[in-house]
Amino acid sequence: KWDMAHFAKEQIKKIREQVGDNKVICALSGGVDSSVTAALLHEAIGDKLVPIFVDTGLLRKNEREQVEHAFKNVLHVPLITVDAREKFLSKLKGVVDPEEKRKIIGHTFIEVFDEEAKKHKDAKFLAQGTLYPDVIESVSVKGPSKTIKSHHNVGGLPDWMQFELIEPLRELFKDEVRKLGIELGLPSELVYRHPFPGPGLAIRIMGEVNEEDLNILREADAILIQELKAWGLYNDVWQAFAVLLNVRSVGVMGDNRTYDNTVAIRCVSSTDGMTATFSHLPHEFLERVSTRIINEVDGINRVVYDISSKPPATIEWE
Ligand code: XMP
Repeated sequence: KWDMAHFAKEQIKKIREQVGDNKVICALSGGVDSSVTAALLHEAIGDKLVPIFVDTGLLRKNEREQVEHAFKNVLHVPLITVDAREKFLSKLKGVVDPEEKRKIIGHTFIEVFDEEAKKHKDAKFLAQGTLYPDVIESVSVKGPSKTIKSHHNVGGLPDWMQFELIEPLRELFKDEVRKLGIELGLPSELVYRHPFPGPGLAIRIMGEVNEEDLNILREADAILIQELKAWGLYNDVWQAFAVLLNVRSVGVMGDNRTYDNTVAIRCVSSTDGMTATFSHLPHEFLERVSTRIINEVDGINRVVYDISSKPPATIEWE
């Protein structure tokens, strides 16, 4: 086990030597990895860091506020937020294929990011929160015809973007990144958040993504997370989230028949995301989550629990 204080010190020294007087741009996704990367960079080079946070509109409930608070108020890092919600939504309109959705999101992210990055002409480096499993998984699953899922945060940088890459977390696993985050003073609420994929909620809505469905999903997801925390189960699972299936089924509410959407609850245990088993959560807990989601979220009349493991299923549904 590496000592994270020591690791931080070494990396900071390395980053300072590599960067010199230049500026470094860092894209923040709201996730743990990019947050820790930005915090490390800030510790190393202070205001030579240009941290750019893109609000894709595909984030979870209150996620943007949480990230902005952590960076601006806790770490005192001058975060630049780019509001690209409309752009992402309009590009995703009518798109149903999972890989196509991922590609569009990846490209749009680069487009939005590039537009903002251009404003910082003196930046020569780009920092990314690539972890060891990202490196392995993108090498092992990507042959020319064998991409399982295109992870848009690995190798996603087009050649015309003339940045040198800084990837200080490349040798770390998630648990080590978390320790490093704590070491750097990030709030534990942020550091111990479950991993969240770059394409965000778009790959948790089956089929076309629209604002209305995003809002439904955000509410269902927030209830699940709130209950996990209330039952003291949040830190026992690797990831927990809701998936909007776009499958309608018949239900009954009072004297009326309903014909509404289904939400799947996905909770998995894992150490690195490469393999996973579905979490064996108490039925009473699942019952509570189901009752709350159906009662509190308009448009949902059925909740199912995903009992598949990875492999052969993946953690995300798309
Ligand atoms: P899967 O669904 O492949 O996911 O079992 C494994 C882990 O990776 C996350 N994931 C992503 N993370 N960009 C990311 O940054 C992506 O495109 C992406 N796709 C999946 C997923 O949430 C899980 O932790």
